[in-house]
This record gives sequence, C-alpha cells and structure tokens, in this order.
Amino acid sequence: MAEGRRSLKVGEKVLFGIFGVFVLLAGIGFYFMDAAVQRHPGMFKPTTHYNLSAEGEKGSVIFLHQGCTDCHRAIQDGTNSGLSLDGEGSKRTKQWIYAFLTHPEETYGAKTIDHLDPGEGVAGPPTAASYRTGQAAASYVAALPEDKIRALTAFLSELTADRGSTSAAIPPEAHDAFIDKMVGMWAPDSWKKKYGDVRKKEESQ
Ligand code: HEC
Repeated sequence: MAEGRRSLKVGEKVLFGIFGVFVLLAGIGFYFMDAAVQRHPGMFKPTTHYNLSAEGEKGSVIFLHQGCTDCHRAIQDGTNSGLSLDGEGSKRTKQWIYAFLTHPEETYGAKTIDHLDPGEGVAGPPTAASYRTGQAAASYVAALPEDKIRALTAFLSELTADRGSTSAAIPPEAHDAFIDKMVGMWAPDSWKKKYGDVRKKEESQ
C-alpha cells in the first residue's frame, strides 16, 4: 500500500459514519417535510382580505409612496411602529377614515401622537429630522391633496378582516355564560354606562 493512503482508523470510521448518518437523516427529513408542506399549503388561514377597486388600487400606490409604510403595515408591506391597518375597513367606516385623515384629532376626540389637524406641524413626508425630533411625523398627511386622501380612504376601507381575527374590531361569535356573569358582577356601573358590548356592534352595523 502506498505511504499516503493509509486506511482509516476505527475511530475515524465511526466518526465519519455518524456524520454520514446525520447528513442522510437531514436529507430524508427535508424531503418529507417539503412533501408535507406541498400537500398542506398555508398552515394558517388568512384572516384579512382585500378586494381593491380602481380607486383603491390608486390608494395602495399612494400608501407606499407617501411614507405611510414608514409607520403602518397593510397587505404585508410596512412596519409595526404605527397601527397595523389590515382590517381597517372592518373597524371603521369610510366616512370615519376620511374624517381621520383630514382631521385626526377632531375625529379621535383626543390628542394624537403623529397625525395632526391641518395647519399644525410640518408639510411633506417624514424625514430623518422629523423622526429625530420625534414629534408628529405624520402631520403632513392631513395636508395631502384631496384626490390622494380620497384614494387612500378607498384603499383603507377595502382592507377587511374576518370577525374574531386579531385585525378585526369584533371578537369571535361566542357568548360564554360564565364570562357574561363575571363581567355583569365585577365591571363597575360607570363602565357599563360608558362602554357598550362590542359584540352587539356588529348587529347594529
Ligand atoms: C410617523 C408615523 C406615521 C406615519 C408616517 C403615518 N401614520 Fe397613520 N398613524 C400613526 C399613529 C401613531 C397613529 C395613531 C394616531 C396618532 O396618535 O397619531 C396613526 C393612525 C392612523 C389611522 C387611524 C387608525 C385607527 O383606526 O385608529 C389611519 C387611518 C392612518 N394612520 C393612516 C395613515 C396614512 C394613510 C398614512 C400615509 C399617508 C399614515 N397614516 C402615515 C403613525 C403614522
């Protein structure tokens, strides 16, 4: 036998053997996992939907190009530093969305963080500087031209969510006698007067 081609020691054979078995198992595992995924596309059923009109389609492009995705998320685009707007059309009416975009504080009936009523704050999409100052970086939104606001309103109102999903305003369709009793017993009267049962909202919509 040539000098350079000594046969493997027992330990080496065992080591390479074990390594080979791992590689083989990983290969087999991958093959079966992949086959299983192909057979069951989508482990989770999507709970948010969109069916865009021509106006909504226009709004979706404006949404991407006017800095909205710097803060918001919708249809898998954007960030989570503002509210997710998937399902917005199931939470708010079209009139509400329009009112919010043009007069956010008046519509919320409260002080807002980033959106401001027209005339307050700065014009133009957020810049690095407006983020650094940290204040009202979405104050430009209320000052956008009317046609852009209308298209954005159409787009957002066409984002819907299934009842009970995390993006929906209405919880799952279920009445639990125990929970109803506990809320009836423990919730202060002032709350009951101030807040309605969110499950009844759908019936009135
Ligand atoms: C700098 C971050 C930021 C940017 C940019 C921004 N938003 Fe917002 N948005 C917020 C925050 C924060 C709120 C909650 C209200 C508040 O405090 O300003 C909000 C609230 C909203 C709401 C109300 C959601 C609800 O149901 O209560 C809508 C609709 C909305 N934004 C749409 C838009 C659109 C459309 C754009 C782009 C033209 C945009 N936003 C750009 C941060 C932002």
